[in-house]
Amino acid sequence: MSTITKQNYRGVYHFSPKEKWMNDPNGMVYFQGEYHLFFQHHPSGMTWGPMHWGHAVSKDLCTWEELPIALAPDELGMIFSGSAVVDWNNTTGFFEDKPGLVAIFTHHLEMPEGKPAIQRQSLAYSKDNGRTWARYEGNPVLEHDTFIDFRDPKVFWNKETNQWVMIIACGQTVCLYHSPDLINWTYASEFGEEVGSHDGVWECPDLFPLAIDGDHLNTKWVMLVSIGSDPAFVEGSRTQYFTGDFDGEVFTPDEDSLTVRWLDYGRDNYAGVSWSDVPAEDGRRLFIGWMSNWMYANQTPTEGFRGAMTIARELYLESRSGGIILVQKPVKELETARVPVLSLKDVSIREINTSLAKLHLESYEIIAEFSRGKSVGFKVRVGADKQTVIGINGVTEELYVDRMASGQHDFHEHFLGHHSAKLEALGDSHDLRIYVDCASVEVFSNGGQAVITDLIFPALESTGIAVFGENENDLLISLDIYELTLSAEI
Ligand code: FRU
Repeated sequence: MSTITKQNYRGVYHFSPKEKWMNDPNGMVYFQGEYHLFFQHHPSGMTWGPMHWGHAVSKDLCTWEELPIALAPDELGMIFSGSAVVDWNNTTGFFEDKPGLVAIFTHHLEMPEGKPAIQRQSLAYSKDNGRTWARYEGNPVLEHDTFIDFRDPKVFWNKETNQWVMIIACGQTVCLYHSPDLINWTYASEFGEEVGSHDGVWECPDLFPLAIDGDHLNTKWVMLVSIGSDPAFVEGSRTQYFTGDFDGEVFTPDEDSLTVRWLDYGRDNYAGVSWSDVPAEDGRRLFIGWMSNWMYANQTPTEGFRGAMTIARELYLESRSGGIILVQKPVKELETARVPVLSLKDVSIREINTSLAKLHLESYEIIAEFSRGKSVGFKVRVGADKQTVIGINGVTEELYVDRMASGQHDFHEHFLGHHSAKLEALGDSHDLRIYVDCASVEVFSNGGQAVITDLIFPALESTGIAVFGENENDLLISLDIYELTLSAEI
């Protein structure tokens, strides 16, 4: 008789709701020492349903405290995705003596008799650091006559024009609007008809400037656009990015943006956007995504809750071989969760495996470096006939994650898979940074140019780790493994 230990697949250092369903991250804003993370939430169901904004806060982007629901459906409809900002100068007139938070979100109203739902943009504001919210009496503040899909407003203050800017998904394009006060909006432009992937409806856009190679006098604008899953495409939901210029009204893409570029080459990083109002002295562009895919999101085998966020990441622009690319790095705060387990230099694959044979870990980080051209990889969450394989193919110069035998998969026919990302403009060595948790792997290589985020559902007992390569005597330049022990405050 075999005993199967019950598990719920809740990540150790990933945010997931205490209970029930979660999808997109919403309203991420930093204010008075707290990172706010709101999220699409169905508090009484394990699948997508009437959308609320759940709420969590963190001081370090690692440990999250879930707070009561921030926004619940009302007579204007469900509360779909959107953003939040600090109204520092009281442009709205909602605040008196001190600044507060304003949420800009989509009200989604179902209509009778099979008529299409109506999507309009509304405001809510908070004078107590996001703990309680009042609806603006004049809601909705923005509607559109022709777009059926008109949602997910992301708003930021444009210092150059002294205006708020909104980027919003409109079917298979995005539209840009501007406003002096978040209440009155003027249409500026539409982008995307002839560029980018149109494999599905456009959702959850974002637009922000980033310094190129850290030079603040040389910036480009980055646009993120998530592509909803059309069942015809086995990849399901994915996020693309464009780089270009923005003059306050019109976004003009670079040459490089005329070919489709993905933020992540895995299956499970969707609807991610960046934090608003991160202090200038910090200067980072911080990002988090929903770690799932609409293809199977409603069926994943978690218990008691369904949905998790990626780890928080820092976004940068780098110029490499003539092109400008977006790179992602795990937030540095995650280093505080590290407990050193193994640190080796110039060591052979055989010797590493001798050390790894004794290890049993569930949630951890692997950092490895090896010579260019070598094919090296790790098997993580290894158990009886099961493993997730993560590696670099030195010949094809690709990073890959193989979840063909990672654990539970029968909840969806397209869950099994081998996902890869081309490594572009490589240096002399290969770098691999792997985050493993109870139900996920997040892999960064080539300085964050190639990123793969994949859910996995291994058995609780699958805790082995191994390294492999072409030859047992091949050397790795270095290998560090840290257990990540954060226990999320849930
Ligand atoms: C993206 C999305 C958004 C929408 C929300 C509804 O995953 O479809 O476009 O606002 O989810 O929950």
